[in-house]
Amino acid sequence: MTTKIAVFASGSGSNFQAIQEAILRGDLDAKVELVVTDKPNALVVTRAENFDIPVHAFLAKNYESKTAYEEEIVSLLRDKEVEWIVLAGYMRLIGDTLLLAFPNRIINIHPSLLPSFPGKDAIGQALDHGVKVTGVTVHFVDEGMDTGPILAQAAVEVINGNREETASRIHAVEHELYTKTLKQLFEQ
Ligand code: GRF
Repeated sequence: MTTKIAVFASGSGSNFQAIQEAILRGDLDAKVELVVTDKPNALVVTRAENFDIPVHAFLAKNYESKTAYEEEIVSLLRDKEVEWIVLAGYMRLIGDTLLLAFPNRIINIHPSLLPSFPGKDAIGQALDHGVKVTGVTVHFVDEGMDTGPILAQAAVEVINGNREETASRIHAVEHELYTKTLKQLFEQ
């Protein structure tokens, strides 16, 4: 059965795009019911519009609390019968409201081999540290920052410490690994 998902993103949305393209190719039996963003001007909004996928864009500062904006999101997701939340560059910590509404149903992708380099600018952290191998992790989301149980990882070699090249190879690996892992998860 087709799995109904929501993708949360704050930036470019290249992972969202890769997921949607996999769906359209027939490689992933899912439907993106909603894209949620806290950055109304982010490129992910244009990408979603190009696929005719509804977008919920909000500004956290317009709400009293994380609970308030997450309650609104939960209600939208319930209306659309969303089963899984897929985080793809969503730059906010998920709060109790979403975690309790979607227990073990929120997945994230992070551009390092966790538990190394959690949090912001994982690629920069890894390069500053001088690692020779970094990578990508797909994991369940819990209340921590990039701390939930790991579902899949892939290694990426760092060549000459070049940031742009490393980032672009990490993104290519992300696009493949995320789709593959979601497919396995949804087929269980
Ligand atoms: C990815 O590197 C992902 O691992 C991290 O944020 C980035 C999002 O990239 N969580 P994009 O917006 O999907 O292009």
